[in-house]
Order: sequence, then structure tokens, then C-alpha cells
Amino acid sequence: MSAPSTLYRPFTHLVRITVRGKQFEVPENNTLLRCLQYLAPDDVSYGRFCWNEECQYCRVTFDLGEGTPERAALSCKLMVQEGMRVKEVTTEIRYCLRNLGLEEKGRGCP
Ligand code: FES
Repeated sequence: MSAPSTLYRPFTHLVRITVRGKQFEVPENNTLLRCLQYLAPDDVSYGRFCWNEECQYCRVTFDLGEGTPERAALSCKLMVQEGMRVKEVTTEIRYCLRNLGLEEKGRGCP
């Protein structure tokens, strides 16, 4: 059994999202936090995330494309969608994604 594949809910393809202005492809049918773990496996695994909607360290703001409303959500609960644009992230997420070359400008979530 290969360990990494057991982390993810079953998926058949990748969807395109942007995180702080940078485009990525991540597994559909998974939560956004799990998808961020897909992008930065070690750093997100060692992050201080409860994965259970309690700690709030995974909070993000996002929209679903041009002209759609911006919303806040917990990424451990939010299912990823094609075209999702993650705009603001917590300090914890920013730290975990520090090696992905994301935009530095803009404010983070508290
Ligand atoms: S990881 Fe703790 S609330 Fe989402």
C-alpha cells in the first residue's frame, strides 16, 4: 500500500485553482486543505492543523472566478472546485506554502 494515496479521497482528475495568484492543479473530490497538502506534502503535514474545523488555522477567503462573491471558509471543510481562487490565507497556511512561490502582497486572514 502506498502511503500518500491513502490521504486523498478517490479522484479521477485534477482541477485548476489559483492560490494567491499562482495556478496549480489539485485532485478533485478533496478538501482544499488536503489539496494544499498535495502541493506541499511535508510542510502541510507538519502544520498545526486540527483537520477538524476547530483550530481555525486553515481559514481562507476565496471566490469561484471573475464576478463571483468572495467568501470565507475553513479549508479543512471546503471542497475544492475547478476555477477556485484562494485569495487570503492564514499565517499558518502561508508558512506551509512558503516554498511554492506565492504572491507576498496582500493581507492575510487574522
Ligand atoms: S484545520 Fe483546524 S479548523 Fe481547519
